[in-house]
Amino acid sequence: MKKIGVLISGTGSNLKAIINNCNNKNINASISFVISDNPDALGLQIAKENGILIKVINFKEFKKRKDFDQALLNFLSSNELDLIVLAGFMKILPRMITDKFKGRIVNIHPSILPKYPGTQTHAKVMKNKDRFHGVSIHFVNEILDSGQLIAQGIINTKPNQSESNLIKRIHKVEHLLYPKVIKYLCENKIYLEDDKVIYNLENETYNQKKNLMYVKYNEI
Ligand code: GRF
Repeated sequence: MKKIGVLISGTGSNLKAIINNCNNKNINASISFVISDNPDALGLQIAKENGILIKVINFKEFKKRKDFDQALLNFLSSNELDLIVLAGFMKILPRMITDKFKGRIVNIHPSILPKYPGTQTHAKVMKNKDRFHGVSIHFVNEILDSGQLIAQGIINTKPNQSESNLIKRIHKVEHLLYPKVIKYLCENKIYLEDDKVIYNLENETYNQKKNLMYVKYNEI
């Protein structure tokens, strides 16, 4: 069984979805640790309620960014993790971590990358009256939201919908697509080889040109 470490900074709704999928054996893995840079992250409570070990590496307690990075690297290195899952982790990982765990760190981002890396993605979609919005799951490198794309989940935007409704719909997509991708990663059906994402999957839809799993969620 694979061992996962989940990194969070906040609410932890994606963490919850991943825990549920591990508990019901849809994902064949166990979560060794939930790690947070923020001691007040609500997701830590979700981890505790589910009997998962937590590790807080409090960003504010470090004078230098490099010392925080080193503490995180030390912790990740000492725990034999197969997969590191960023689920609302609000720090860009440095190269010493992304290189060491190349092909083993994934992130979820609420936009159709390369559109809208960074924050405020929902507001940008609203402002630009985009017809589509979505989420991207990608391998992580040292540059913000720019590692190899693995999967995108797409919804249509609706006229006159509120931003909070749009966010709710995006979360629904995240909670379906992230566990699905993590399941495939844990089964070695998706992996990184020579900087290319390889898929050994049946019954999934793709964007061949972009080499990624591409799922339209018309029902959300
Ligand atoms: C999600 O929208 C995810 O895409 C982004 O941060 C948010 C985390 O939400 N990276 P939650 O903490 O999982 O509820």
